[in-house]
Amino acid sequence: MTPTLIERTIPSSGERLPVLGLGTFGAFDVPPRSSAADALQDVIDLFDRRGGRVVDSSPMYGDSESVVGLLRTTRTGQAAGTDAAGPDPMFIATKVWTQGARAGIAQMERSMQRLRAPRIDLMQVHNLVDVDTHLATLEAWKQEGRIRYIGITHYHGGAFAALEKVMRTRPIDFVQFNYHALDREAEQRLLPAAADTGTAVLVNRPLGQGELVRRMQGRPLPAWAARAGYRSWAQLALAFVIAHPAVTCVIPATGDAAHLADNFDAASIATDRPAPDAALARRIAQAIAAA
Ligand SMILES: NC(=O)c1ccc[n+]([C@@H]2O[C@H](COP(=O)([O-])OP(=O)(O)OC[C@H]3O[C@@H](n4cnc5c(N)ncnc54)[C@H](OP(=O)(O)O)[C@@H]3O)[C@@H](O)[C@H]2O)c1
Repeated sequence: MTPTLIERTIPSSGERLPVLGLGTFGAFDVPPRSSAADALQDVIDLFDRRGGRVVDSSPMYGDSESVVGLLRTTRTGQAAGTDAAGPDPMFIATKVWTQGARAGIAQMERSMQRLRAPRIDLMQVHNLVDVDTHLATLEAWKQEGRIRYIGITHYHGGAFAALEKVMRTRPIDFVQFNYHALDREAEQRLLPAAADTGTAVLVNRPLGQGELVRRMQGRPLPAWAARAGYRSWAQLALAFVIAHPAVTCVIPATGDAAHLADNFDAASIATDRPAPDAALARRIAQAIAAA
């Protein structure tokens, strides 16, 4: 059986998305015309070849938006800012991260230029900064077709109540937050609330900014994990997140094509690797917590 990338559905539209995406914090913040940016072309090319779609960035991430824009148009042969080469497989998620409506609009227009995208798939209010102001703009932009989906993000549990309140009171398509095998607060209310409200979930920091992988370094994989077709602790950490049915897409950051291939394998079904389920997630969490 050829490995098949697991997909999930965006509740508000029914559109399907691959469950593995790509974060760009750190890894893609390199000078746009540089050997470091050239090296990232391999990552974007592999991402596309393996069927990846969701790439998450932010104006907060230095040059990341510009690098994504450059590499994706090189990949598709698109002229900057046009649809000339046909449909773009990349589902571009970025954010607005500033105070005030006018500053937000200027920042989002700059992001579109940097990403070379005439339309953004998902625009998220980063860390809920001035959220009511930006949601008003985003609701208008969605009507006008400048963005396809609206989202909100945060990166720590202290903001979960605020995320939930927005989810329950505003027309949000996506919520993005932190969740991994040693950071499970989202299971209490936020993941069930996402399922309840029909909100798609992007999971950030799924490897604890790499800390989970470093923690497990040098430890052999448990025999049951190897039998289930997993080859690394990073794969197990991602399988833990993917096992949750309310998760739409997990967005580990990497600038390393071998790591990206590893991550795709974790998000794929094959003969020796069934889709992760709750029983597997329990074993993974126990194994990581015991280290
Ligand atoms: N408030 C927000 O909106 C918010 C906050 C945090 C994050 N985010 C988003 O979520 C994304 C992910 O979070 P994050 O970047 O903070 O942390 P993360 O994805 O948990 O961890 C990234 C680290 O994991 C390493 N890694 C990835 N795949 C690996 C593999 N297979 N084996 C070993 N190491 C691996 C990467 O190193 P290599 O490059 O060497 O692979 C990198 O150092 C961000 O990039 C960003 O897009 C959003």
